[in-house]
Amino acid sequence: MDSKLDPRLETLQALQQQAQQGGGPDRVAKQHARGKMTARERIEELLDPGTFQELQPFMIGQDKDGKGFPGDGVVTGYGAIDGRTVYLYAQDFTVYGGSVSLTHARKICRVLDLATSSGAPVIGLLDSGGARIQEGINALQGYGEIFYRNALASGVIPQISVMLGPCAGGASYSPALTDFIIMTDETSVMFITGPDVVKSVTGEVIDQQSLGGAAAHFTRSGVASFLGKDEEDSLALVRRILSYLPPNNVEDPPYVPPSDSPARTAEQLNTLVPEDPNVPYDMRVALHSILDQGSFLEVQAGWAQNAIIGFGRLDGAPIGVVAQQPMYMAGVIDIDASDKISRFVRFCDAFNLPLITFADSPGFLPGSMQEHGGIIRHGAKIIYAYVEATVPKISIVTRKGYGGAYIVMSSKSIGADLHLAWPSAEIAVMGAEGAVNILNRRDLTKAEDPEAVRAELVAAYREEFANPYRAAEEGIIDMVIEPAQTRPILIAALRALREPSRQMPAKKHGVMPV
Ligand code: HXC
Repeated sequence: MDSKLDPRLETLQALQQQAQQGGGPDRVAKQHARGKMTARERIEELLDPGTFQELQPFMIGQDKDGKGFPGDGVVTGYGAIDGRTVYLYAQDFTVYGGSVSLTHARKICRVLDLATSSGAPVIGLLDSGGARIQEGINALQGYGEIFYRNALASGVIPQISVMLGPCAGGASYSPALTDFIIMTDETSVMFITGPDVVKSVTGEVIDQQSLGGAAAHFTRSGVASFLGKDEEDSLALVRRILSYLPPNNVEDPPYVPPSDSPARTAEQLNTLVPEDPNVPYDMRVALHSILDQGSFLEVQAGWAQNAIIGFGRLDGAPIGVVAQQPMYMAGVIDIDASDKISRFVRFCDAFNLPLITFADSPGFLPGSMQEHGGIIRHGAKIIYAYVEATVPKISIVTRKGYGGAYIVMSSKSIGADLHLAWPSAEIAVMGAEGAVNILNRRDLTKAEDPEAVRAELVAAYREEFANPYRAAEEGIIDMVIEPAQTRPILIAALRALREPSRQMPAKKHGVMPV
């Protein structure tokens, strides 16, 4: 056989080699010097070895002088994570700073279209200077075409964005339309308007990282769902998140054989809630001891910490967890906590993850900052999201269940399938002090020693209302359970409630109070 390569194959190989080079060795060296991987190295790191199949590597976006780079600054295709298909794109900062031309955008759109029609998750690895400035309107058209597909794919397939460099302008809005944003510490930034624009419009002098770095978005804006220590960590997070998710909205989340017994009890939970209602406790201890060992993955852990949301597993089946954190602002519900909870509830509902809610909140945060910021509008979103959710919903009141905060946290009245309480639950319209001040105002003003009378009345109120038994007598609480037994009880309940049939009224869509 002739060992000489067929000339047609020679052409193919030459083109393939050219496409591999990105913006050339100098720019690749610069990328590495910044501690960043190239687009292709990131794909290798993320996917199961040898599974990447590239699409459209020869598409070329030409600049005015007719120069172009094969691939046009983005590597796209599909591959596997833990043996399951994913679609992905990785922007190549070595080509025009990963900026988005119409060609670049259409390669991303192709992947979004295929992911949606095949029902597989899509992952964006972003590292981009935003719209390619020299392309003008074409670049804006390209961004719009991406946004359009992100919005259509929402609720159909999981979409995850990993920020691995500067992501300016349009590069921020596509991730904002996806389900989760992972930001890489110190190297990634996201902003709509950069420091120069900020300075010229407002006079504020601020550097890129303080304005839109990972820490800012993880702790202050809530834009980042996860914080990766470095690129490897950010990419490992993608694999972990996907382990809880189905590939699309009509399939079930993946079962992972548990190493933990479904019958395991947690005796320490019987004393977790302090007797004094003003002494906090760490709700994370409850979550870690109830869920399958090591399975809890917290989402938006650095922001609105009075609420906790995340993924976990119970006897191998993925679930979504929503809880209050009494250690932070006593678990009060404010604007940010409302946003955090309602969005996560909608995500879990869209992707068939049963919702387990642990409620312990003294109420909504009072004050003009909250009222003027629209707590009425934001708090209403929690109700809306829970009502709309058709997945199995189980809620447990661990301590305070007062007023509106009690109702919104997946109470029976707004559609919980099973409503449980620990013996430490206090379910009432309001806390004892507030109630006594209103109900007994006259007695208190007439009393010789108002403080002593108040203390007596508060004690009597607590005796009568600060327990779950009134609610259990009314049948509103289905079971008052021993905290230690929570895990086996939840596992049995999830089996019993596997697929509640719920008919929602026919409509195009509701109007969420956003
Ligand atoms: C074309 C770009 C580019 C862009 C960077 N480059 N951004 N080319 N269009 N948007 C090129 C640079 O010319 C340079 O080319 C290479 O990419 C690397 O850029 P540097 O500036 O050397 O890198 P660095 O110092 O790390 O700075 C990165 C950066 C900065 C912060 C992203 O380049 C920057 O501020 N770029 C512009 C960001 C921006 O304003 N984009 C438009 C947003 S408006 P060479 O050849 O030297 O390697 C937008 C509209 C859509 O996106 C909005 C929809 C809602």
